[in-house]
Amino acid sequence: SLQVMNKTRKIMENGGTSFINAFVTTPMCCPSRSSMLTGKYVHNHNTYTNNENCSSPSWQAQHEPRSFAVYLNNTGYRTAFFGKYLNEYNGSYVPPGWREWVGLIKNSRFYNYTVCRNGYKEKHGVEYSKDYFTDLITNDSINFFRMSKKVYPHRPVMMVLTHAAPHGPEDSAPQYAEMFPNASQHM
Ligand SMILES: *[C@@H]1O[C@H](CO)[C@@H](O)[C@H](O)[C@H]1NC(C)=O
Ligand SMILES: *[C@@H]1O[C@H](CO)[C@@H](O)[C@H](O)[C@H]1NC(C)=O
Ligand SMILES: *[C@@H]1O[C@H](CO)[C@@H](O)[C@H](O)[C@H]1NC(C)=O
Ligand SMILES: *[C@@H]1O[C@H](CO)[C@@H](O)[C@H](O)[C@H]1NC(C)=O
Ligand SMILES: *[C@@H]1O[C@H](CO)[C@@H](O)[C@H](O)[C@H]1NC(C)=O
Ligand SMILES: *[C@@H]1O[C@H](CO)[C@@H](O)[C@H](O)[C@H]1NC(C)=O
Ligand SMILES: *[C@@H]1O[C@H](CO)[C@@H](O)[C@H](O)[C@H]1NC(C)=O
Repeated sequence: SLQVMNKTRKIMENGGTSFINAFVTTPMCCPSRSSMLTGKYVHNHNTYTNNENCSSPSWQAQHEPRSFAVYLNNTGYRTAFFGKYLNEYNGSYVPPGWREWVGLIKNSRFYNYTVCRNGYKEKHGVEYSKDYFTDLITNDSINFFRMSKKVYPHRPVMMVLTHAAPHGPEDSAPQYAEMFPNASQHM
């Protein structure tokens, strides 16, 4: 919950932009992600559920080639994606428009998952320092940003960081596991 993420709030609200009137047309995972990527309503991209049509061949043929990554890349942004993509994404390809791609295969996990890293499948186990998904996304994105600014100091960068947290299975990082002993589980 953002209520306990003071550091995040400080950085994002004071150092960036926050939207007090933001709307989600279809608040369900894959339909909403498909809308964010394309700017289309669900009835136009036809992903009504988290399963059927999610990352489907017709999505890949008709809608994915028109995601905002494609347009921003074409105008000169260095684009990068780190984290969860679409629930049924299976890692068999890198979606168009992303120069750097680390996309989670299937749904949220913190350990024991596989990502597609620029076309190659990379398996992760249960070792916190090597595998914890939240930290992998953070580390990869920091590295990409630093490298990008070093090699192409004048090129704009567009990165998407899609953390799985706080999605279930809610495997906390070990150093934070005891921080909120009285917190009750969300329903
Ligand atoms: C976060 O900030 C609020 C006040 O803005 C404070 O009451 C709360 O204790 C802080 N929480 C943490 C975890 O620091
Ligand atoms: C899947 O998309 C097609 C159009 O591409 C649509 O006709 C069909 O109803 C969709 N299926 C589901 C289950 O939403
Ligand atoms: C992954 O999905 C594509 C279509 O999106 C399909 O052609 C391919 O067979 C799938 N691969 C696996 C390993 O499921
Ligand atoms: C990004 O855009 C450039 C210039 O239009 C193009 O050559 C390149 O193939 C694009 N890269 C991706 C990953 O779409
Ligand atoms: C990861 O997989 C191992 C071996 O299958 C299993 O023992 C462990 O419980 C799994 N851990 C998580 C967090 O999924
Ligand atoms: C992320 O980077 C930190 C700091 O370098 C390191 O201690 C940690 O092991 C890294 N974690 C992963 C999952 O790469
Ligand atoms: C948790 O609840 C117990 C019992 O109400 C209380 O004594 C304790 O101080 C609480 N701990 C924290 C960290 O809020």
